[in-house]
Amino acid sequence: MEIKVFESKKELGKGAAKYFIDLVNQKSDAVLGLATGSSPENTYLELINAYKENKVSFANVKTYNLDEYVGLDTNHPQSYYTFMQENLFKHIDIKQENINLPSGIGDTQLNCQLYNDKLAQTEIDMQLLGIGSNGHIAFNEPGTAFDSITHCIELQKNTVADNARFFDNDLTKVPTHALTMGLSNIMQAKQIVLIAYGKNKAQAIYEMVKGPITEALPASILQNHPNVVVLLDEEAAALLND
Ligand code: GLP
Repeated sequence: MEIKVFESKKELGKGAAKYFIDLVNQKSDAVLGLATGSSPENTYLELINAYKENKVSFANVKTYNLDEYVGLDTNHPQSYYTFMQENLFKHIDIKQENINLPSGIGDTQLNCQLYNDKLAQTEIDMQLLGIGSNGHIAFNEPGTAFDSITHCIELQKNTVADNARFFDNDLTKVPTHALTMGLSNIMQAKQIVLIAYGKNKAQAIYEMVKGPITEALPASILQNHPNVVVLLDEEAAALLND
């Protein structure tokens, strides 16, 4: 794992965006794995800026997102589909038919299977990841099997609490389940760029980098991946030097 520490969230976003811009400029039909949450927001802003400045085009890019809440349709303001449209897709030249997210509506098991079938037929060149404060990646909560594929998961209490800020701070409004790529799907990406900022990520980052490889801390599986870069601000990196 390569670790890079940045002075600010903005610099971190620029640093992460550069990986994606360089890849797409080398390979115009790159397949990108994308993430939601507040961690990637600055990265997406930098991608939008680069597109507007004619420094990159996403016209031939395909994207696959990590996860979606069960029960939220594409029109719901807090669905991950809406997040991606608002924070990236509607501002760049990506083709709507090249955008892939699991569907949160309908038969959950079937939706997981359909999404997993799509993933099985593609190879993600670069996967962007955030990390939950409990060490989850995508929505693979602690205890998820390392060989998991796309599945439905019940969100843990602290994940619901962390995400309540997107739902008027009302715990009862946060969906209880989500569809998520499994850890095995994520590990198949050729390269992984994980970003984290803030002190509430410091412990999870420490365990991911220096702790044992264990299903109790899902992100620790990344120690087994040959091509991972971890981009942090100083707060998220704070425990790594101890
Ligand atoms: C959610 C998402 C994850 C994300 C995590 C951290 O659980 N499913 O993909 O990494 O939140 O979110 P944030 O970046 O907002 O801290």
